[in-house]
Amino acid sequence: MAFPERRMRRLRSTAALRRLVAETRLSVDDLVAPLFVREGTHEPVPIGSMPGHVQHTVPSLLAEAKRLCALGVPALVLFGVPRTKDALGSAASEPEGIVQVALRELRSSLGDEVVLVADLCMDEYTDHGHCGIVRPDGTVDNDATLERYGEIALAQAGAGAHVVAPSGMMDGQVAAIRAALDGAGHGGIPILAYAAKFASALYGPFREAVDVTLAGGGDRRAYQEDPANGREAQAEIDLDVAEGADMVMVKPALTNLDVIARARARLDVPIAAYQVSGEYAMVKAASANGWVDGPALALEQLVSIKRAGADFILTYFAGELAEALGG
Ligand code: PBG
Repeated sequence: MAFPERRMRRLRSTAALRRLVAETRLSVDDLVAPLFVREGTHEPVPIGSMPGHVQHTVPSLLAEAKRLCALGVPALVLFGVPRTKDALGSAASEPEGIVQVALRELRSSLGDEVVLVADLCMDEYTDHGHCGIVRPDGTVDNDATLERYGEIALAQAGAGAHVVAPSGMMDGQVAAIRAALDGAGHGGIPILAYAAKFASALYGPFREAVDVTLAGGGDRRAYQEDPANGREAQAEIDLDVAEGADMVMVKPALTNLDVIARARARLDVPIAAYQVSGEYAMVKAASANGWVDGPALALEQLVSIKRAGADFILTYFAGELAEALGG
């Protein structure tokens, strides 16, 4: 009777044995580091709810990008915090907009050493905080927004982005951006589509990081997905692939491992997962209180996300983890 129990434990008896039979391996190659760059500041500004992260100046961003590069992190995703915001999110597509300035600087210093991903959205740039053009009645105008996304894509590609990553969850955004890029000679720029992005309370710290407050205490439930809907998430992913997405993303990661696993079982395109700001902040806060072992928990969560089927992970732990992995 002792046999079945001993059979499973036999391969767990030493660290080397466990390492040998591990089904999932996390490496620095799996990591994408999100970074924030702020216009009009001379010093990096700490982000209170995301310990260890700051709103960078362009020089501090470049230094951090070089550090991550030296650690072997293969990709960065950039978010901008503009000096001025308006209804159209103009700064998102201006050649002198902060992300375009940062992209040019990074590309000219780092070349192709690291993949520069530009988050493509409007919420950091709009005074109302929504991800698109808002009509007088307060709803977001899908098709008017698609035109803006096309303009932003061209600005980012023109400034040196290797990949654009639309995160606004408008219908048809991938097709619109693909057409805009192709029409301007940027046919070689891939799209990483935030395909299944849920309306989540886990984005709270991010909104501090990019100084976004939704007008009138609003929310994004009219465009981001309802966390209740898993089948619909697959439909979103399929639409983005059909529209020409080169890679798809599920976000947040840990609350949607089922969505990742199901997409992995059906699809062969690269699948990314975004371990978002709130997921990071929860680990950091509990760790700071001595309630959990932070580094161990971060590793456990990232391994689980990969086990679910993600090919790579956007994570605020990228730098820390790359250091720990001895990159
Ligand atoms: C939208 C965008 C958001 C995040 C990435 N892109 C915020 C939102 O949808 O409210 C969240 C990332 C995070 O929480 O780490 N531009």
